[in-house]
Amino acid sequence: ALKKRQVSRLVRERLPASIRELLAGMGEVGDAQNVPIFAVGGFVRDLLLGKENLDIDLVIEGDGIAFAREYCRRHPCRVRTHAKFGTAVIIFPDGFKVDIASARMEYYHEPGALPNVEHASIKLDLYRRDFTINTLALALNGPEKGALLDFFGAQRDLQDKVLRVLHNLSFVEDSTRVFRAIRFEQRLGFHIGLQTEQLLRSALRMGFVEKVGGPRLFNELAQILKESNPLPAVERMAELGLLPYIHSRLTLPPRVKSLFAEASRAIHWYELLYTGEPCQGWLVYFLCLTSGLDEESLEELNRRLGIPSRHGVILGEQRREVHRLQRFFERRWGRGRPLRPVELHARLSPLATEALLYLMARVDNDEVRSWVSYFYTALRKAAPLLSGDELKALGIPPGPLYKKILKTLLDARLNGKVASREDEIVLVKKRFLKP
Ligand code: CTP
Repeated sequence: ALKKRQVSRLVRERLPASIRELLAGMGEVGDAQNVPIFAVGGFVRDLLLGKENLDIDLVIEGDGIAFAREYCRRHPCRVRTHAKFGTAVIIFPDGFKVDIASARMEYYHEPGALPNVEHASIKLDLYRRDFTINTLALALNGPEKGALLDFFGAQRDLQDKVLRVLHNLSFVEDSTRVFRAIRFEQRLGFHIGLQTEQLLRSALRMGFVEKVGGPRLFNELAQILKESNPLPAVERMAELGLLPYIHSRLTLPPRVKSLFAEASRAIHWYELLYTGEPCQGWLVYFLCLTSGLDEESLEELNRRLGIPSRHGVILGEQRREVHRLQRFFERRWGRGRPLRPVELHARLSPLATEALLYLMARVDNDEVRSWVSYFYTALRKAAPLLSGDELKALGIPPGPLYKKILKTLLDARLNGKVASREDEIVLVKKRFLKP
């Protein structure tokens, strides 16, 4: 177990100065109010693992809401409170947030259930968490400032790279933990402990995962698909028999696995080139995962999981279009007839980035794939340089003809027939103005 001195060295070396100052400021307010404050959970776990994580969760042994209010009286920030849960969020002017929770007797429904041990309330708070590795607490104030509280062997499990639940009913109390276990296992390169895996499997057998509501299930699935390389976690889901909970017909055949690999290539290609325009990679992976389902089954899945309707177009008509385009493109390639830029533009510009990346993942040869990437990099934003006003200045009376002229100019641009404004003027004069 780490000594105070070693912990403070980790804090010094691994946390940015701004975060250290923020935590110190929180500690001061805690001292002023005479309540012990701890940073807990993923933040502390990742501090020890040397992974960046600036999602700060604090637990106050006392009234977290009163603490958050006092902090905001002394610092320029605002606070949002949830009295029912004794929680608050402190929101800084730049949008940075810190979550505050109360570990306080009245939030536990068994008054008197806490024996008189040191830090009984934070210990109980931590005991309610999912895995031992998430139960570390870093003291931010008082005489223990800088010490690591480790009630449940978290440091040992971090060392051994093992995920363990704290008690036998963990998966029964909260079955989404089944998915969290898989996500952490793959993300951290840990393994689910033997007994924990048995408990997980028995929670499945006893039907607890079935009872997880659609939106919560969707949230867990999306979180898995948001990991940088989700395939191993999806494979683990398949291995543990979790896919049927998403949809009874969902499976993971080799074809879908290679689709994930291709999607990952396409997404990395995109992210490298378009850093400023983030795409929803998880949606591309979701399309891959469900690629074997027919439209009706996918609709059923979307409905049951309560997938937000803003994704509906991509999961519905655009998916259908991608499946159609894949066959069409491959046929054209088979006949040795690449698509011309005008055709590529007409067919691909209605599609969202995520649908295009899914198309790139689906086509089975690099040549066809390069048509799509060529569209994306060279054609997608093509537009005539001349505006309606300029057409008017050329002496063309406004009217339906403008649409045709602009289309002609766009096609000429896509075909490389015009480059400059002057080229466009020459073209317009030749085609649309009587001499
Ligand atoms: N937690 C839990 N059971 C859940 C969800 C969360 O016990 N079903 C606990 C975990 O112990 C976690 C804390 O609540 O430490 C905060 O949850 P979350 O922010 O989801 O966890 P992180 O560990 O921060 O995960 P991530 O790194 O993915 O944000």
